[in-house]
Amino acid sequence: MKYDFDEQIDRRGTGAYKLEQCEAVFGTADVQPLWVADMDFRTPDFILDAIRHRLEHPVLGYTVTPPAYYDCVVRWVRDRHGWDIRPEWMGFLAGIVPGLAHAVNAFTQPGDEVIVQPPVYPPFLHVPEKNGRRVVCNPLREADGRFEMDFDDLEARITPKTRLFILCNPHNPGGRTWDADTLRRLADICRRRGVLVLSDEIHADMALPGNRHIPFATVSEAAARNSLTYMAPSKTFNIPGLVSSFYVIPDPELRQRFAAYLDSSELNTPNIFAVVATLAAYTARGDEWRRQMLDYVQGNVDFVVAFCRERMPAVRPMVPQASFLVWLDFSACGLDSEALQHKMVHEAKVGLNQGTTFGAGGERHLRLNVACPRARLREALERMAAVLENGNVQ
Ligand SMILES: Cc1ncc(COP(=O)(O)O)c(C=O)c1O
Repeated sequence: MKYDFDEQIDRRGTGAYKLEQCEAVFGTADVQPLWVADMDFRTPDFILDAIRHRLEHPVLGYTVTPPAYYDCVVRWVRDRHGWDIRPEWMGFLAGIVPGLAHAVNAFTQPGDEVIVQPPVYPPFLHVPEKNGRRVVCNPLREADGRFEMDFDDLEARITPKTRLFILCNPHNPGGRTWDADTLRRLADICRRRGVLVLSDEIHADMALPGNRHIPFATVSEAAARNSLTYMAPSKTFNIPGLVSSFYVIPDPELRQRFAAYLDSSELNTPNIFAVVATLAAYTARGDEWRRQMLDYVQGNVDFVVAFCRERMPAVRPMVPQASFLVWLDFSACGLDSEALQHKMVHEAKVGLNQGTTFGAGGERHLRLNVACPRARLREALERMAAVLENGNVQ
């Protein structure tokens, strides 16, 4: 079956965050929204059908999580990533961002230090902070158009109060699929210095053609024994509104501690539709849809790269290896971060994520979500080019 990712779907009237929050975030609702990281593609019909099928039964009561749920996750993770997890290593997680807070609270104390690598997905900065922990930044460096980790800086920043390192694998923004050597080195440092690693792998299933996702816990014994990993079908299959993530913890002691923390507040039970959707997504049909979606996204990435080269040469896109987010560097446009965003919002009328919200290194950058029909992407880029051509490209 050939899926159609050019279909234009009107999301107005559905409470879409991406649309409803424009006024609050950009100061105007009159922008084309290319920010929040969900897709404007149709959630695949085989997932919608599975939900419809469940709705044919008239009772939506308390339910147990069926063994089939664990089996399908185990199979998916093995087939996609070559990681042989056991059903007892995993558990349901009601959202990865809430999961960041659970790990912070289960494994650290107020005042402890949590290391993150900006520029990074903003909740990595806010969640530990809002929970009374100190966020310590180990900034990424850019080399040859890609992010690299700075291990000397990391070693220097670890103190006796450092308890947790939150890894974004693949990285958001920038779409970096970290290689095994990098992950192994990180695992060694964190193990040696007594820092637990939380690997957020929500983008794992979206390595773009020719790239490969490597789960952190697979690179060494040090990584497996000293980490928790979060994954989800939510991003890949465009079902984040269902809240359907899970954790994997190979080490029995860490697992017990985390499971006990979740259990104490009953944070470990999925809603009915999260289970139904996961079972429908993690199948051969789901994989076929996923591959076609990624081919389309790759086409959109290529389109952005070519468009920048030809029409906005001062804008440098970081070419992602995974996912549908393109990190755009506007440093050569001669605008500071505020002026840049003002121009995009009020002149081009496009709403992209402001780079500064990703922490250090995000100045004069914007993050573009390309998981939309190409026609919509083209229109947004045309509008951006039009305002940059008015004298701002140096
Ligand atoms: C790295 C990363 N983690 C977590 C999330 C969101 O996870 P959830 O919707 O399960 O809270 C996102 C969404 O963009 C993300 O990019």
